[in-house]
Amino acid sequence: MKNSIKDDIKKRYSKIVMSGNDDCCCMPGECKKGDSPIDATKLIGYDQEELESIPQEAILGVGCGAPINHAGLKEGEIVVDLGSGAGIDIFLASKKVLDSGKAIGIDMTDQMLEKARENALRGNYSNVEFKKGDIEENIPLDHNSVDAVISNCVINLTTNKTNAFKEIFRILKSNGRMVISDLITNVELHPEEINSDQWCECIDGALTKENYLSCMKQAGFEKIEILEERKYMDGEKINGREISSLVVRAIK
Ligand SMILES: C[S@@+](CC[C@H](N)C(=O)[O-])C[C@H]1O[C@@H](n2cnc3c(N)ncnc32)[C@H](O)[C@@H]1O
Repeated sequence: MKNSIKDDIKKRYSKIVMSGNDDCCCMPGECKKGDSPIDATKLIGYDQEELESIPQEAILGVGCGAPINHAGLKEGEIVVDLGSGAGIDIFLASKKVLDSGKAIGIDMTDQMLEKARENALRGNYSNVEFKKGDIEENIPLDHNSVDAVISNCVINLTTNKTNAFKEIFRILKSNGRMVISDLITNVELHPEEINSDQWCECIDGALTKENYLSCMKQAGFEKIEILEERKYMDGEKINGREISSLVVRAIK
């Protein structure tokens, strides 16, 4: 099941990036069918002017918050975005860490990596890199090597959230920070209730807030702080469950 879900995730996100996500929108309740990816992205907290300054094909409208707004990135820092998609947060981060810093995107879907690299070439970015990797198995970066990790609506897609947080902990320098946007639910599903399509839409793999934060603690994180919390679909239920989005910061 673990492998078939991963294959389905890759299929879904390669289809989205190849279509430019023109028929789609972000997460339920945040935007209406027909909204452009840029409109959907503004709705979840991104700044229009900043969005206009990056390659437009990097904006797919598939996030659920704006962790970059809370990452406090500074010149010279190394930042990693997990599940970087077509590169939206990497291009925004690149302008904050400048040439003495570096922004590294990690994704497991080949077509996403291809599009992100094309976008980097088109925008002439010299301080960005995109690497292939499965964030819950092995992030392809050294121990204690990065200042900040960000991620937007990705950890809930993993089948073992604690492993993903352990990998983040491993690559962060001491006192490094992670800022994550993600979806949580009020009731978790039993394995037999899981629908692969809904997992890929970031719904069926969501944990309760308590379990989600507990995975971070088990990985070793401290000073865990919820920065934003919003209900999706104005609290309307999806298959009997409430879905919310969180932005969380934690320190190694
Ligand atoms: C909902 S999209 C978010 C993309 C991007 N963060 C954004 O906001 O546009 C999820 C992304 O995470 C990637 N992904 C999902 N599970 C992953 C994993 N285990 N390891 C690496 N990438 C993963 C997918 O390929 C996809 O590009």
